[in-house]
Order: sequence, then C-alpha cells, then structure tokens
Amino acid sequence: MFIFKSPDLLHARISNRKKEGQTIGFVPTMGALHQGHLSLIERAKAENDTVVCSIFVNPKQFDDKLDLVNYPNPIQKDIAMLQSLGVDIMFNPEADQMYGEDYDNTDLDLQGLDLIHEGKQRPGHFQGVAKVVRRFFEIVEPNKAYFGQKDFQQSVVVGHLIKLFDMQTELVVCSIVREPHGLAMSSRNERLSDVKRLKAAFIYKSLLKFKERCFFKPLPEAIETTLKYLHSIDDATVEYFVCVDGETMQQVNDLSESKYVAVVTVVRYDNVRLLDNMVLKDER
Ligand code: PAF
Repeated sequence: MFIFKSPDLLHARISNRKKEGQTIGFVPTMGALHQGHLSLIERAKAENDTVVCSIFVNPKQFDDKLDLVNYPNPIQKDIAMLQSLGVDIMFNPEADQMYGEDYDNTDLDLQGLDLIHEGKQRPGHFQGVAKVVRRFFEIVEPNKAYFGQKDFQQSVVVGHLIKLFDMQTELVVCSIVREPHGLAMSSRNERLSDVKRLKAAFIYKSLLKFKERCFFKPLPEAIETTLKYLHSIDDATVEYFVCVDGETMQQVNDLSESKYVAVVTVVRYDNVRLLDNMVLKDER
C-alpha cells in the first residue's frame, strides 16, 4: 500500500493510473476504522481497479472543539487494517496541506441542507464536510465514492455537492453495518462502556418498531409513541427523531407526501451522540 501525504503527488499518481484506463474508487474516512468502514472498502475493491482510502480528521467539520481533540486517532492500527484489506493507496494529509494559504473558505450553496436536523444541531458541520469532500474529489477525481447510510444527511449533502459542481463521481451509499445487538457502527461507540453499548440497541429496536407502526397509524402519533419509549430510557435524550424526504431532507408529516421516506434520529446516550436512521419506503 502506498501512503501519500501530499495532495499534488497523490493527484499525479492517480492521473497516471487513470491514463492507463484504471477506475478509481474512493473511501473517505476520519480513521478509527470499524466494520462499517471495512464494508465500504470491500465494496470499493469489488467495483474498481484502484482503491484510495483517506484518513483525515477534518477540523472544519467539528462544531465542538472538544470533540475534535477527543476524536480517536489509532493511526498504526488503521494502517495495518487498510493493508490487510488490500487498499492500494492511503491518503493521510495534514490540515495545512488540505487547506493551504490559497484555500478559498467561502461557504458553499447547500440549499439549506446544512441548516436542518443534524445541521441545526451542529452549526457549520455540513459546510465543513462539503468543503473537505470537494477538496478530496478535486485531488482524487474518483469514478465512485463510497459513503455510509448511517450518516444519512451527509450522503444527501454529498449528492447535492456532486450536482452543484457537475462532478464526474458516482455516489455509492452503502447500508448501515450494525453491532450484533443492533447499534449502528460508529467510531464514537468506543466512548460507551460495554454495558451501555449493549443497551444502546434500544435505538435500533425503536426504529424497527416505528417502521411497523408508521404504516397503520398517522406519522405524528407513531412518532409520539416512539418518543415516549425513548424518553423512558435512563441516560437517553432525544435530539431529534424526524421523518424526511430522503432526497431533500424536508420533513414529511405523512408517508404519502414522498416516494422516498426515511426516519433520521440522534439519541444522546450516556452523553455520546448516536446517529441512526431507517428507510421507511422507497418507491422511486
Ligand atoms: O463520514 C466521515 O467520516 C466524514 O464526515 C468524511 C466523509 C470522511 C469527511 O470528513
């Protein structure tokens, strides 16, 4: 596996591979790799000639500086994992290589996608995500880029970004990978004790129940019942639990309002923010 820190050198290497007719699959990560990342990499490997995986803890997307300082960074373990998976190229730049002196930090037109739901809870977060993904796509110019459905709103933002800049990259959104008891895989799960990690399966269970319920009860009623359950769990606070159109992220109050509806939620459990979601219907 080749490890690049310099965007220019990486870009030159990839351009050569593309000239040889190779396709490039790209998996962006912030490290602390888990099974969820591995499933993205495996899919990228199956669908491309060369797989590039980035490990970059992007300072621009952290609204909470403490979260940035505490973000896990087990780089040696991550390198070993990428090597064992047969990743061709790892990109591990420094912040000043991604955002040099000539970097234009102007906010991007995300059509308000950055201001609702997760974006409302974390001001500036999706601007930071969009900016780093745009930089990555300029450097790597991937044929396909792989994102996890766990960060549902993030994948909608990336889809918008691709359209906004008419980029030639296909967005591939991969299903959520869950721990055996149901908690969606996330680097942040490490912050839970073993017991709480098991107990946190209540989020997935509540989504499954909600999915059953929402087809025979009006949505607001189904949401109320689920919220009652979530509020009854010790040490849990619901930040949001909302049904959205899966393309625009606009809230829907009835399943008939859209062909593609998902429920997205964040539950803070033992002070750890846990994101999850479930597609309720997809008739596109
Ligand atoms: O999902 C993530 O890990 C990050 O938001 C991403 C896409 C790597 C951008 O920093």
